[in-house]
Amino acid sequence: MELLNAFSDLQNKVVVVTGGYGYLGESITNVLAKYGCKVYVLARSVEKFNEKFCQNKSVYFKQTDVSNISSIEKSIQAIGNKEGKIDVLINNAYYGVTNHPEKMTSQEWRKGIEGGVNQFFDCIKNAIPFLKKSENGKIINVSSMYGVVVPDLTIYDGREEFLNPPNYGTAKAAVIHLTKYYAMYLGKYNITVNSIAPGPFPSAEVQKDKEFIKRLQDKTKLKRIGNPEDLHGIVLLLASSSSNYITGQNISIDGGWTL
Ligand SMILES: NC(=O)c1ccc[n+]([C@@H]2O[C@H](COP(=O)([O-])OP(=O)(O)OC[C@H]3O[C@@H](n4cnc5c(N)ncnc54)[C@H](OP(=O)(O)O)[C@@H]3O)[C@@H](O)[C@H]2O)c1
Repeated sequence: MELLNAFSDLQNKVVVVTGGYGYLGESITNVLAKYGCKVYVLARSVEKFNEKFCQNKSVYFKQTDVSNISSIEKSIQAIGNKEGKIDVLINNAYYGVTNHPEKMTSQEWRKGIEGGVNQFFDCIKNAIPFLKKSENGKIINVSSMYGVVVPDLTIYDGREEFLNPPNYGTAKAAVIHLTKYYAMYLGKYNITVNSIAPGPFPSAEVQKDKEFIKRLQDKTKLKRIGNPEDLHGIVLLLASSSSNYITGQNISIDGGWTL
C-alpha cells in the first residue's frame, strides 16, 4: 500500500532559514531536511553550524550577519542565483537588547526593533525576486506569543519580576503586521506569507531553573513548556503546498498561553 504524505512536494525545495542552528532553528532545519528540502542556514558562526550539521548533506551554511543589509543581500543573491529560485524563506533569527521598561535606553530600544523586525524586512525584500521564480513561494516569519499578548509583571517572592522587554513584543507584533502586508502584496505572485507565534520554548540552560519552568507551565492550558519538535507540524504545513490557500495568518503554537 502506498503511504500518503501531505508534505511530499517538499522534496528538493530550496529553503533559507535565518538563525537555522539556534534552539528552535535547528529543529526547523532538521525537519525540513528530513522531508527532502535543501536547507540553507544563514547565521554568523561556521563552528556552531558544523557542531549541528556537519554530517547532514542536505543542509548548507551561508555566513550572514542579519544586522548588516549588504550581508543579507550577498547571501540571498548567492543562493538564489545558484539554485535559480528560493521556494521558502523562514525568518527566524533574532537579536536584541533587553532591559527594564523604565531603564531601557533609546539605543537599546532601537536595537531590539532592528533585530526583531527590520532584518525580516531586509530578508523578505531580497528574497522576493527568487521567490517569484518558485512555483509557489512561501515566507514564514517567526513572531512570538509576546507579539500577540503583553507579558505579565508578576509579584514573585515579594518583588515585581520583569519578564520581557518592551522592544521584543513590539517588534514581534510588527512581524505579524509585516506578514499581513506582504501576504496582501505577494498574493498575485502565488507567494504565501504567514507567521508563527511560539509560546514558552525555554532553552536547556533556562530549563535548569525549575521554579521558573513551573510558572511557565502553569500559564499554558496544556500545563507544559514547548519542545522544539512541537513546531514541526506547522512548519511542514506552511512550507508545503498543503497550505497553498493559507496566507496572512499568524498561528500560535503556545499550548494555549494566549487564550
Ligand atoms: N525560544 C522561545 O521560547 C521563543 C518563543 C517565541 C519566539 N521565539 C522566536 O523564535 C526564534 C528563534 O529563537 P531561539 O529561541 O531559537 O533563539 P536562539 O537559540 O538564540 O537562536 C537565534 C539564532 O539567531 C541567530 N542570530 C542572532 N543574531 C544574528 C545575526 N546578527 N546574524 C545572523 N544570525 C543571527 C543566532 O546565530 P548566531 O548568533 O550564532 O549568528 C541563532 O542561530 C526567534 O525569532 C525568537 O524570537 C522563541
